[in-house]
Amino acid sequence: MSTTLFNLQREHLAHLQRAYSDILTDHGFDSLAIYSGHALPHFADDQSPTFQTYGHFMHWVGLADVQHSWLVIQPGKRPQLYLYAPADFWHLPTHLPEEPWVAEFDVQLSSHKITPPLPGRAAMIGDIQRLTTGTQQAVAAEHQPGALVNALDELRMFKTPYEIACLREANRLAIAGHQAAQAAFIGASGELDIQLAYLGASRQRESNVPYQNIIGLNDHAGVLHYQHYDLQTPKQRHSLLVDAGRRFRGYCADITRTYAGPDAPSAFSSLITAMHGLKDELVQSVSPGVKFIALHEQMHLRLGEILIAHNLFKGSSDEAVNTGVTRAFCPHGLGHSLGLQVHDVAGLRHPDASPAPAPELHPALRLTRTLKPGMVVTIEPGLYFIPMLLAPLREMSLPLNWPLIDALTPCGGIRIEDNVAITENGFDNLTP
Ligand code: GLY
Ligand code: MN
Ligand code: MN
Repeated sequence: MSTTLFNLQREHLAHLQRAYSDILTDHGFDSLAIYSGHALPHFADDQSPTFQTYGHFMHWVGLADVQHSWLVIQPGKRPQLYLYAPADFWHLPTHLPEEPWVAEFDVQLSSHKITPPLPGRAAMIGDIQRLTTGTQQAVAAEHQPGALVNALDELRMFKTPYEIACLREANRLAIAGHQAAQAAFIGASGELDIQLAYLGASRQRESNVPYQNIIGLNDHAGVLHYQHYDLQTPKQRHSLLVDAGRRFRGYCADITRTYAGPDAPSAFSSLITAMHGLKDELVQSVSPGVKFIALHEQMHLRLGEILIAHNLFKGSSDEAVNTGVTRAFCPHGLGHSLGLQVHDVAGLRHPDASPAPAPELHPALRLTRTLKPGMVVTIEPGLYFIPMLLAPLREMSLPLNWPLIDALTPCGGIRIEDNVAITENGFDNLTP
């Protein structure tokens, strides 16, 4: 790892130290314990599902699989890391990497599960419901105080240069996977083999992905969070949608690409090109002061124009938006905040933590904020042929080209997704 990244990480930790001191003081707390969380085994079994460290713990310690451990933060004091490291000959013993950030913490390895001592008025955050009641009560602390958690969420909305560097590297690694997935598709692989090609080229095992990779051939490309990997290659190859990421030091990439196959109508390739153009246009519109809801509405207006230009709709773009046509073709939001979680925290709140819910017409929008420097968002316009959503439009006398829609339905849909940092003057597209 480069010295530059380690130096950025040291500055990131110093920033957290200052910000947490201010936030704890503002909320009248002398100490805060952050629980890493832990996985629970499946019912009546001794096997556990994949685990992910609590985001506020990862904000300090960028390890995505730390369990049964604690961080204690006190204003003006060095952070204390109580790392669970049992004497265990079944597994590789827990150890910290030999990296400079470790020296910024007072580290205590503990062979048994503990609750840390908390001086003064104390708060405790994390999945403490999973701790035994006795453990929860062993420490006199306020559990999950809402105002404090909101303030810490708000801090996560604004990424430090270290975090942006990590997100950029996560993107670089993920793109290698996307290139391999495209090559596998050209080589007529099925969904499972495309997934395996992606994992191999992005150098990760399946349990490390930040979200389940979406790898949909043909109509599966129109299932927004398609969750299977067919073993066989379908006879006809219309399309491939790959929405797949990578973690780097805790930080997530979330990238989508769509490809036309040899059996797609030519209109599908041309729609993919148009959607790349729309993604680029929306990325270029990212800058401080822009309201994300307005950008989402811009996407709908432009989707209307794309439908018209491709002979799918014969009215005006305003008409396509106002009659709900564009919402049937794109039922999800333009994007979301991105960081230690794929759908990162505080997207639906104002800076003062009051709720900023999604608009009634766009309930799936996950970000309603005004963009500011330091935020990182996804820009992911989509255009899908989802029979369930298009069916109600058939009942209305709208100027839609149903024969062409029916011809494109086996292609499922298109999504193009990049990860974009907001800078002082505009944007920085982190997706190569
Ligand atoms: N991969 C999930 C999303 O794009 O939001
Ligand atoms: Mn995605
Ligand atoms: Mn996304």
